[in-house]
Amino acid sequence: MNKINLGIVGASGLVGSKLSLVMEQLNLPIDQLRLFGKSTIGSVIKFAGRKLEVKKIDDANFKDLDYVIFSAGSEVASKFCKKAVSDGAFVIDMSSHFRYDENVPLIIPEINGDDLSNIDKPSIIANPNCSTAQLLMVLKPIHDMCKITSVDVATYQAVSGTGKAATQELYNQIYIKEGYEDQNIYPKQIAFNVIPQCDVFLENDFTKEEMKMIWETHKILDNNIEMNVTCTRVPVFNGHSEAVFIRTEKFLKKNDLVNILESFNGVTVVDDADNFEYPTPLEHANDTTDVYVGRIRSVKNTNGGIISLWIVADNVHGKGAALNAAQILERLIKLDMSNRK
Ligand SMILES: NC(=O)c1ccc[n+]([C@@H]2O[C@H](COP(=O)([O-])OP(=O)(O)OC[C@H]3O[C@@H](n4cnc5c(N)ncnc54)[C@H](OP(=O)(O)O)[C@@H]3O)[C@@H](O)[C@H]2O)c1
Repeated sequence: MNKINLGIVGASGLVGSKLSLVMEQLNLPIDQLRLFGKSTIGSVIKFAGRKLEVKKIDDANFKDLDYVIFSAGSEVASKFCKKAVSDGAFVIDMSSHFRYDENVPLIIPEINGDDLSNIDKPSIIANPNCSTAQLLMVLKPIHDMCKITSVDVATYQAVSGTGKAATQELYNQIYIKEGYEDQNIYPKQIAFNVIPQCDVFLENDFTKEEMKMIWETHKILDNNIEMNVTCTRVPVFNGHSEAVFIRTEKFLKKNDLVNILESFNGVTVVDDADNFEYPTPLEHANDTTDVYVGRIRSVKNTNGGIISLWIVADNVHGKGAALNAAQILERLIKLDMSNRK
């Protein structure tokens, strides 16, 4: 593989710091590495085994970079991703800013990674929403085998999904209790609570997070799947959980279902009720890369089957963010994209 020059915007963030770990593990052939940030400008941080100074993005010239990963939210993406592309870089954006643009591929490598081969010039590739990515890793093998007609989901999302300030806020509310200034990251106290709102409310009464899961499932997997989603924020530091109810055209016995899930790369089944084995965020979202699925139930009905299951994944380190972005980068490098400039 040819060596590449890489930029990371948001290297000091929750996702950025996990990107650093994943990149080291994947041993990507990085020559020049440049980090960008905001409040950490000028400080030296460790990233992918190197110690580097964080630079100001406003002065950035991306011209000598082959790839830039943006992990700094929608506002930064809206200001700088296109500039990076016009400077000749292939951009992977973690925010939702470009995800619904029909000209921007939204990629989970195990599902639609082959779409990357169609890219013929520097452009933006979007990384999906964390709750969607872990859901689709489980839906994909089921859909291929027994055609999903509808999915109902309730999410239980960790505060790490809102970034480092939210993680600090939960810590303060639980352990410090007073003597600090609450940042009001959420509309209500999150400690000892469950908030049935992730992201802002839209005109149709759904939240934006709920609609992201619907839009992205349709874009990545199948536009014909009926979806109903409720997203909640829970006082868990890391690891999103989902209760999922799936209707299919074909009924599959539980054993067959377990087999197809186990043979899908990136999914691990943890399902042994006799031994209280099922995925939980504490046990299965600690810098883990797989998507964990358990509590699997399969019932035959007149129209096919109804499958109920429980999914847990590390939303920051795993498929929802760092791992998926690093895998997209790995694919682009293998396709030798920098030769398509
Ligand atoms: N957390 C998740 O579960 C998750 C999952 C999927 C996708 N995402 C997406 O990943 C991205 C990062 O999320 P996060 O959780 O890591 O957030 P975070 O912990 O709040 O970190 C934000 C990062 O963005 C940088 N940043 C902010 N404004 C900037 C600016 N004007 N110029 C350059 N850098 C700037 C910050 O740099 P400083 O520290 O220097 O200020 C920091 O490194 C977001 O787009 C988010 O939507 C997050």
